[in-house]
Amino acid sequence: MHTSQVYVELDTVNKKPNKWWHHCWVKITGISIIVLIVFAVILALVLNFVVFAPKKSETSTTAATSSSTSSSSPPPLTTTPLVIPTTTQQTKWSVTGNMNDARGYHTASVLPNGKVLVTGGYENNSSYLNSAELYDPSTGIWTTTGNMTDARNLHTSSVLQNGKVLVTGGEGNSLNYLNSAELYDPSTGTWTTTGNMTNARSYHTASVLSNGKVLVTGGHIGNDVYLNSPEVYDPSTGIWTTISDMTDARAGHTASVLSNGKVLITGGVGYVFLNSAELYDPSTGTWTTTGSMINARHQHTASVLSNGKVLVTGGFHIYMGYLNSTELYQFFQTN
Ligand SMILES: *[C@@H]1O[C@H](CO)[C@@H](O)[C@H](O)[C@H]1NC(C)=O
Ligand SMILES: *[C@@H]1O[C@H](CO)[C@@H](O)[C@H](O)[C@H]1NC(C)=O
Ligand SMILES: *[C@@H]1O[C@H](CO)[C@@H](O)[C@H](O)[C@H]1NC(C)=O
Ligand SMILES: *[C@@H]1O[C@H](CO)[C@@H](O)[C@H](O)[C@H]1NC(C)=O
Ligand SMILES: *[C@@H]1O[C@H](CO)[C@@H](O)[C@H](O)[C@H]1NC(C)=O
Repeated sequence: MHTSQVYVELDTVNKKPNKWWHHCWVKITGISIIVLIVFAVILALVLNFVVFAPKKSETSTTAATSSSTSSSSPPPLTTTPLVIPTTTQQTKWSVTGNMNDARGYHTASVLPNGKVLVTGGYENNSSYLNSAELYDPSTGIWTTTGNMTDARNLHTSSVLQNGKVLVTGGEGNSLNYLNSAELYDPSTGTWTTTGNMTNARSYHTASVLSNGKVLVTGGHIGNDVYLNSPEVYDPSTGIWTTISDMTDARAGHTASVLSNGKVLITGGVGYVFLNSAELYDPSTGTWTTTGSMINARHQHTASVLSNGKVLVTGGFHIYMGYLNSTELYQFFQTN
């Protein structure tokens, strides 16, 4: 009895602090949870509006894009501005200065000083242009520079090793074909006539050889006359020299200076549509035929790749129309 009373007393004494501690622990836990929740909410708000603020707009953009792709109905027009990220705009085309003359079928050459010289061409069904303009990449402004002596269309323009620009041939204003050639001097902004070519020609090619001379090939002089007669210009004398003929007369062909110094001529239109190709060797002044292209083509392009091969693209074929096909040429040294 006594022991049990003591036990009861002890029990009640023990129970009192037990209850108290239990109560306090609940309070502390409750307060800590509330504090943690408040802290978490503040942290979430801070992260949402400060740290992840730029990313939030990005995710909303992707959400708009994905919703537009997943839903079959077209997205509302208002989401379209959201889908345009500013990074893509930097890779788009931007307007730069207008030329002083509208023109097509003109030439453009990057000069050693970084400016771009544009010459001649065709405007509004009316007349061929003798005007020339310079583009300054640092300002984006075009300024007229000296006029050429002859208005020209379907001519060529080549930057020489001395920095001057050689313009050759083309179609003139009285529908005549030009044999004249002119030199532009970037230091004075003026043109001077230089030696006439032996043949008038338009729709021809001009290539600066590794020895500094200029090879002109083929071309068209109206009345369905196509040329196989090439000539070479010597900048040190201003004189043109005819060299041995190509096998095929051609216009609208290509000429590419290969890494070995030879010049590859491809396709074009002559008395037939051509798939033939020829190589000019400046060291011997001779032509050799080389493998024919798979397709005849003219108004095509030919680009010398960094691996030395030549990529030919597109062009026009009499039966096939405009071509989507492309071909690769590789020169094999055979000795
Ligand atoms: C070219 O044609 C357009 C539209 O017909 C005309 O506005 C413009 O003045 C013409 N330019 C020249 C140089 O004739
Ligand atoms: C050029 O000529 C064609 C056909 O003759 C005509 O349809 C076109 O309007 C002309 N363009 C200009 C700018 O005069
Ligand atoms: C170029 O010729 C045109 C007429 O064809 C003339 O109006 C212009 O002033 C000339 N420009 C220069 C730089 O001589
Ligand atoms: C070039 O040929 C034209 C005629 O097409 C002639 O008027 C001019 O004098 C010739 N120029 C030279 C430098 O021989
Ligand atoms: C390329 O052109 C040919 C013939 O015109 C056509 O059959 C083919 O579908 C075209 N290829 C592509 C990838 O457009």
